This record gives sequence, C-alpha cells and structure tokens, in this order.
Amino acid sequence: MSEGKRITTKVSAEEINQQYKYIETIKQYNQGVISSIGKPVRYIIETFGCQMNENDSERLSGMLSGMGYSECSERKDSDLIIFNTCCVRENAEQKVYGHLGALKKLKETNPNLIIAICGCMMQQKDVVEHIKKTYKHVDIVFGTHNLYKFPELLNTAITTRSTVIDVWDSTGSIAENMPISRKENIKAWVTVMYGCNNFCSYCIVPYVRGRERSRSLEEIKNEVEKLAKDGCKEITLLGQNVNSYGKDLEGDLTFAGLLRELNKVQGIERIRFMTSHPKDLSDELIYAMRDCEKVCEHLHLPVQAGSSKILDEMNRRYSKEQYLGLIEKVKSNIPGIALTTDIIVGFPGETEEDFNETLDVVAKARFDMAYTFLYSKRTGTPAAKNPEQIPETVKKQRFDRLLELQNKISKEINDGLLGKELEVLVEGLSKSSKTTYTGRTRENKIVNFKGSPDMVGKLVKVKIEEIQTWSLLGKINK
Ligand code: 5AD
Ligand code: SF4
Repeated sequence: MSEGKRITTKVSAEEINQQYKYIETIKQYNQGVISSIGKPVRYIIETFGCQMNENDSERLSGMLSGMGYSECSERKDSDLIIFNTCCVRENAEQKVYGHLGALKKLKETNPNLIIAICGCMMQQKDVVEHIKKTYKHVDIVFGTHNLYKFPELLNTAITTRSTVIDVWDSTGSIAENMPISRKENIKAWVTVMYGCNNFCSYCIVPYVRGRERSRSLEEIKNEVEKLAKDGCKEITLLGQNVNSYGKDLEGDLTFAGLLRELNKVQGIERIRFMTSHPKDLSDELIYAMRDCEKVCEHLHLPVQAGSSKILDEMNRRYSKEQYLGLIEKVKSNIPGIALTTDIIVGFPGETEEDFNETLDVVAKARFDMAYTFLYSKRTGTPAAKNPEQIPETVKKQRFDRLLELQNKISKEINDGLLGKELEVLVEGLSKSSKTTYTGRTRENKIVNFKGSPDMVGKLVKVKIEEIQTWSLLGKINK
C-alpha cells in the first residue's frame, strides 16, 4: 500500500440491517393502509440526468418494493413521488423546479401524498435553502451520499408528519447489499465506482458526488454473477471516471484487471463501460478491451473541446494531439471499434479559431456519435468566474455547425453498414410495434427487425437493409 493512499470502506452491516428494519416497519404500516383504503400504495420515481442516477433510482425502487409500494406511471395515482435530480447543466435544474411547482396542487388535493427529492441538486446548499423556502410541500430532502438511509428518512416523515432534511457533505464509504429493483433484465447497470477527483473547471460533479470510491472486486463480481443467474446478458459498468478504478483499494487491481475478471463470468455475453477519461486511458486497458471477447467494440471517450488552449483551461490534462493519438491507438488495436464522445460548445474564452479546432477533431476522429452540450455556468466551479462568457447566440450558432458536421459523419459511418450482417442482442419489442423487435449491436447501434418472442435475450445475426437517423433496419438471417 502506497503511503497516504485513502482506502474506501463499507457502511457497517449493522447500519444496513437497521435500514432493513425500517423497510419492514414501513411494510407493516403500508399493509394497514392497503387494507383500510382497499387499493395498493403506489410510488413514482422521476429520474433526471445520467445512468448513475438511473441506477440509484433502481436502488430506491428496490427499497420501496420491500416496503410494499407498487410502482405506477402517473403522479396523480401516487402516494409517494420521488424526484432524483441532476445538476450538471442549468436547464436540468430548471426543469426540476418546474415539476416541483406543479406538485403543489396535487398535494392540496391529496394531503397524504409524500414528496421526496434527492440526487445531485440536493448536494448544493443554496438549492436546499431554496426548496425549504419556496416549496414547502416537499416532505423529504436527501442527497447522493445517504441514499441507503432512505427507509429511515421515510419512516421519520411518516411518523412525525414533518419535513425531513438530511444531506451529507461527503462519505468515504459504500453501502453494499441494499435491495435493488432493475428496470430491465437483459441489460443491467453495475456501478463500480462513485465520485470524481478530476475537477474539470466547468463541472459540478466532483463537488456533489465527492471523491472517488471504488467497490471491491468481490462485491462487483457477486453482483454480476447474480445478474447472470437471473438471465442478464449485458452489463454496463458505471463510474464518473472508470479508468481510476481501484486506486483507492488495497492491492493493485486496475480497471483493466476488473474487465479481465468480469470477462470470466459465465452467462454474461457483453460488457460495456462508461465514462473513460482520456488522460487515464492506459495501454493496459486498450489491451484488455482487445483481449476480452465479451468487452464490446465501443468506447465513450469525452473530448470536450478541440483546442489545446481550451482543454488546458478546462483542466482536462491532455492536448488535441494527445487525444487524436489515443484514438489512433484505440482504432489500430481494436479494429471496427465505435467511438462516441461528449463535446461542450461555448466554454468561456472559446474563440472562433478554438471552435474550428473542435470541428477539426470531429472531422479527424470520426465519432459514431457525439453528445453535444452548450456550456452551462455552474456556480462554485472555476469556469463560472471567468469573465469571458460566450453569448448564447454565438454558442447556439456554433452548436448547430457542430451538429451538422457530426450528423454527416454519423450517417457516413452508418451507411457503411448497409448489407452487413451484425450480431444483435435482442432486448424486446420496439415501442411502436407488436412484431418489430429491437436490440443493439456490439458497437451499440440500435437495430430494429421483424422477430419473435423467443429471440428476446438471445444473440441473433441481422442483415442491415436500411439506415435511419437514430437506428438501423434489418432482417434476421436464419
Ligand atoms: N456545461 C455543459 N456541459 C457540461 N458537462 C459537464 N459539465 C457541463 C457544463 N457545465 C458535460 C460534459 C460531460 C457530460 C456528462 O456533461 O461534456 O462529459
Ligand atoms: Fe466532471 Fe471531469 Fe469528473 Fe467528468 S471527469 S465528472 S467532466 S469533473
């Protein structure tokens, strides 16, 4: 163990048991309610933001189903409404405030309704103050670090009928063995690490999600083996910066090592992961991707900007040339790999020349897809204090130019798939049809095709016959 290495610990078994006791207490209470009102008690969780939040909501669902709640799809039918929030960009926050305001009327018509709000937004003190002052109909406020304590907080809200606010600044531990109820069974999210130490100058995440904390190999492997037993075929390993996995654990397991371990789990057919930081993408990881047959040929590698000057100001710790060099290395080791990225347009001080460098990276890297964002000022981050903020109109105009170029490249790449036979993991019926099935290729492209129920959960070969904007259309070759 190197000197000064911080080791992540687990929340104690007693603490976790305590939460199970609260789950049982609420279950008994709910049984009483159900028999007196003659219908189920219902909840809805509305999730904003990234896959990490989706995975956290699956945990809340697991706790709630243990408490005897059933999930429903309408706020008006709910006895409990939870908003799991995101604060990466301002518009995500504004949306939440809009939704919270709309709940006031609902609470007036149903005073027994419990409204809870959690997630990244709650880790900001000014947000909690604003909610306390403006949205008095909110019953429970909690953060990202004490999600596992939700049963206890809910029990307090039910028994005291008063507002419960509990947000922790940080934690060095991970809560394992809490229940989880997943949205899908063929594919699953598996969080391998929490937090981020990178402090990119525009980003609020390190302030609200805390320092990097890795789960142990044993816990991750147990979870993946259990998923495989339950019929799951594809896992996506989640973390803000998966490439730093293991740095806070005893021993020298790396993310590459973790991939090699998980590649051995029987029953799992595909492994994906996100997000990778270019500065930490090691050769060891590229070789693990190349060698592990279950690890899919897809890499999400956010570039954020093309200009080395802007990258430096973003505190990304790589240059445009280093990024392009990395892409070359990845492409030459893993032929046919699909690359996706995140790009921010209009970072403070971005000149026309800087933006042209972003277009140049996009043209050279030839991403399969890019998630593009207008820079959003986040209070508390260094970039928010930069006086050279870019006017919205300039940002939007650059954004449109970027999108036009990326769409052209995405279409060219997808056109190259016409006539090819691709392996698709069948996920189920497509939303709009009773005979069209949907799934994804190893490169993460959506493919729709005529199929049958027995194909769900299986790997099939589909010949691509038509390229649409967001998906491919194909035919099963038997
Ligand atoms: N403004 C715009 N986009 C941002 N992202 C993170 N912070 C901001 C911000 N302040 C984007 C980055 C990141 C993705 C998850 O969100 O591109 O990779
Ligand atoms: Fe934010 Fe950068 Fe951490 Fe990603 S790596 S979560 S962009 S600080």
